[in-house]
Amino acid sequence: MATMNLTLRVWRQKNSKEKGRMVDYKVTNISDHMSFLEMLDVLNEQLIEQGEEPVAFDHDCREGICGMCSLFINGEAHGPDRGVTTCQLHMRMFKDGDTITIEPWRATAFPVIKDLMVDRSAFERIQQAGGYISVNTSGNTQDANAIPIPKRDADRSMDAAACIGCGACVATCKNSSAMLFVAAKVSQFALLPQGRVEATERVLNMVNQMEHEGFGNCTNTGACEVECPKGISLENIARLNREYLKASIR
Ligand code: SF4
Ligand code: FES
Repeated sequence: MATMNLTLRVWRQKNSKEKGRMVDYKVTNISDHMSFLEMLDVLNEQLIEQGEEPVAFDHDCREGICGMCSLFINGEAHGPDRGVTTCQLHMRMFKDGDTITIEPWRATAFPVIKDLMVDRSAFERIQQAGGYISVNTSGNTQDANAIPIPKRDADRSMDAAACIGCGACVATCKNSSAMLFVAAKVSQFALLPQGRVEATERVLNMVNQMEHEGFGNCTNTGACEVECPKGISLENIARLNREYLKASIR
């Protein structure tokens, strides 16, 4: 096991009103087996011992499921590795003596709450606008397994459903567009018969809410797909555009 000494350049901001700034901290004896969040835990223990305010950062599952750990590390959403969230990022991706810059997601629609924590409730509101299906629970509900679905569609729907709503796509996009997220949420239902019932209103409502929240436009740059920890494909954006066009001319 190798250990390393690091300089952390961390965004500190007391609350959403006050201006923030970068502050440098030293951490020592960091194991390369640690996760990035465990390394931040070490920093926070150190700060608490020194009577200083710990760094606020979001996290929950710490296993790549909840999408809470939204950090911009050395200029990349979720750091230098691919296909991982910040909680799954290993310290072995860094080396002794490194300076690591840690910032919150930067997007108008994701305002900073404190330090590295941002408010991602805009995503919740987009999902509330249409990210569900209505199910008949009258007692005559058809068994889902009795509905034939082509394997290809089931696989694509499952791939889209892998989106954990982390917001890396927004943070990494030069326009702060939420198209990859919305495309994943629309696609997971659009590909299944259960989702077709409300498909028209779903896509219109979700896109309207997205625009209302202040996310930027998609210019097909593709950075979102590169930084997405769940490999959500750009083909979902093409599907969203088709669904939106179809719904608009109805
Ligand atoms: S599309 Fe990818 S990057 Fe965007 S919210 Fe979903 S999982 Fe995160
Ligand atoms: S803490 Fe849940 S995905 Fe990282």
